[in-house]
Amino acid sequence: MSQPDVITIDGPAGAGKSTLGQRLAQRLGYLYFDTGVMYRAVTLAALRRGLDPTDEEAITRLAREVHIDVTPPTVADGRQYTVLLDGEDVTWAIRQPEVDANVSPVAACPGVREALLPQQRRIAANGRVVMVGRDIGTVVLPHADLKIYLDASLEERARRRYKEVRSRGQQADYEEILASMRRRDEIDSHRATAPLRPAEDAVIIDSTQMNADAVLAYVLDLMRTCDEHDRT
Ligand code: DC
Repeated sequence: MSQPDVITIDGPAGAGKSTLGQRLAQRLGYLYFDTGVMYRAVTLAALRRGLDPTDEEAITRLAREVHIDVTPPTVADGRQYTVLLDGEDVTWAIRQPEVDANVSPVAACPGVREALLPQQRRIAANGRVVMVGRDIGTVVLPHADLKIYLDASLEERARRRYKEVRSRGQQADYEEILASMRRRDEIDSHRATAPLRPAEDAVIIDSTQMNADAVLAYVLDLMRTCDEHDRT
């Protein structure tokens, strides 16, 4: 494999997908795109309009109506990108616990996935992209050159999310985060449409005992080894 043009990273919440995705994209000079923000933006729009996140008809209509844009950072406040929902900056609003608690049923809605899929494919169409999510290697970009499935134990993922929330100066309860993550894993992996699972040709990495540097080094090494193997 020469340098992969399209790289997908899937896995459960808190496995380290965004950190790896951002660092890999920066290293290669690629676009980084986190598809989770799209499901989060639809969820925020639903909550604001007082819609029931499990009302598939209403949520599907909403997903077709709203305009979601992801741009380079517009404010220097530690963000990696800016998320616009119908023109409004919702970069931090989509990280609220209410969104965490309601995003899984929204993401499980087939109409929502159908509305977002072409937008995700369009973003990847020019190549040189690292796209992160749950179904990128299996459904969105099944012909990607390199597919990574990043996993870690539930407890370790909850610990990381707890630290992340605290580092933003917000209150956090470890047990609550653990329970919410367990619930989301359950819904994300068992839904009928595009469930969370590794693609058959994905490289599976368990990051429970690895820090972010070690995961990046592992992936870069993997790319080098594949490249050398291709040239011999
Ligand atoms: O990665 P995240 O926590 O921001 O994702 C938010 C939710 O969206 C999560 O419940 C899984 C879902 N999601 C999805 O179903 N498919 C994707 N490609 C990305 C996220």
